Amino acid sequence: MADYDLLVIGSGPGGYVAAFRAAQLGMKTALVEKDATLGGTCLNVGCIPSKALLHSTEIFHIVKERGEAHGIKTGKLSSDIPALMKRKDEVVKQLNGGVAQLAKARKVEVLQGLGSLEGEGKVKVKGDDGEKTVSADHIIIATGSVPVELPFMKFDGKTIVSSTEAIAFDKIPGKLVVVGAGAIGLELGSVWARLGSEVTVVELLPQIAGAVDKDVAKMAERFFKKQGMAFELGAKVTGVAKEGKKTFLTAEKGDKELKFEADKILVAVGRKATTAGLTPDKAGVELDDRGRVKIDDHFRTSAKGIYAIGDVVAGPMLAHKAEEEAVACVELIAGKGGHCNYDVIPNVIYTEPEIACVGIGEDKAKEDKLEVNVGKFPFAANGRAIAVDATDGFVKIIADKKTDRILGAQIIGHGASELVAAIVTHMEYGGSAEDLGRTIHAHPTMSEAMKEAGLAVSKSAIHSM
Ligand code: NAI
Repeated sequence: MADYDLLVIGSGPGGYVAAFRAAQLGMKTALVEKDATLGGTCLNVGCIPSKALLHSTEIFHIVKERGEAHGIKTGKLSSDIPALMKRKDEVVKQLNGGVAQLAKARKVEVLQGLGSLEGEGKVKVKGDDGEKTVSADHIIIATGSVPVELPFMKFDGKTIVSSTEAIAFDKIPGKLVVVGAGAIGLELGSVWARLGSEVTVVELLPQIAGAVDKDVAKMAERFFKKQGMAFELGAKVTGVAKEGKKTFLTAEKGDKELKFEADKILVAVGRKATTAGLTPDKAGVELDDRGRVKIDDHFRTSAKGIYAIGDVVAGPMLAHKAEEEAVACVELIAGKGGHCNYDVIPNVIYTEPEIACVGIGEDKAKEDKLEVNVGKFPFAANGRAIAVDATDGFVKIIADKKTDRILGAQIIGHGASELVAAIVTHMEYGGSAEDLGRTIHAHPTMSEAMKEAGLAVSKSAIHSM
């Protein structure tokens, strides 16, 4: 008999959720984690600490820029970076403890150490207190991802850094150059810009925020510029140059050579799957040409009894995608009908305003020649938004022309990350724009803008023309 019914390697949102769901279903479960704390990238150095910093710096920014208009007088405002970091660390610590407590309560055994596959059903765990080999009927690989490094300017942890260091600077960089205007670049660029850093974002593509619709990206760029961030789009980074004590990021744009002075350079050009130390080949687990574990539509790898989920497999690198795959994978192992709906995964950039998307965008619909109706409603026409100083942005609903079924939504605005959830639910149940438009939303709320955008699909929005 094997030591465990299920052994999960990696304790990020994919791994720990898999272990918890397995325990709920009565499996004897172990969770292998090489780091000292549970929670993986998301909890320790990703989603959670960045959201803590975004929140603190948003308060700072609002008080600084809008305090007087709201009748708040503070005298000279200043920041305290050690205090800011302390709060962020406490948030992380609280959640680390929460995951560990839940693991204990669910009788999930945590094995501290680096897990390596040793052939069918066997995993070696090399921890701080020695090495042991354990066996399991089923193994889930949830080893996640690491930041992509530019080969010509490797991370040095001091000047050329990844997000891991950029959430823990001990002082505000005078000049911060960010490479990549994706989620990490925009979020951490915002954090330091709000605190007074001179932030320049250099992006290869002609627009920021990846594949969002052009109107959303353009509007976001305008707002971020107003907040003091500078953008150099369509620029190819070429390297780092030293002139005396000064460091510069160099880039090319057409036939122009560009040079940006930098105290810190944050490289945020994506993440890549990692199986470092896992020795997948020993168990016959095949990887694709990008180092991701190959799986079928039931999360099965090429090796019997071994599955993979989350950032280490293909698909968007999002914690909630990993969590959903975790539940689906474990339920399939348990002989149930687990399923992950890849068409309805929200994607959020937590700047101010936030950018939240789900499903198909307007540009993509056009590109794919889909017949759609689009409804748009600006927050400037929403009473609550005016009352709370959050009139920037809009909600856009993309619906099938024939059936009116909602195919996607894009929201740019304050709290978009929370607002998008309602549209996700409508989409999950196959809802139409009319369904959304006829759903009663509390007044006054920002969420009424979604109802109105639903109505706007059939040109019947009440509060805008
Ligand atoms: P990303 O893929 O979101 O954005 C990277 C950006 O860098 C792209 O716009 C790309 O065009 C640009 N780029 C690539 N090579 C470049 C070069 N040589 N020079 C200039 N620009 C270049 O990657 P990011 O922001 O590093 O995030 C990594 C992963 O983590 C993503 O999959 C992201 O979805 C996820 N993540 C999600 C968050 C969220 O859900 N809010 C927050 C942070 C990360």
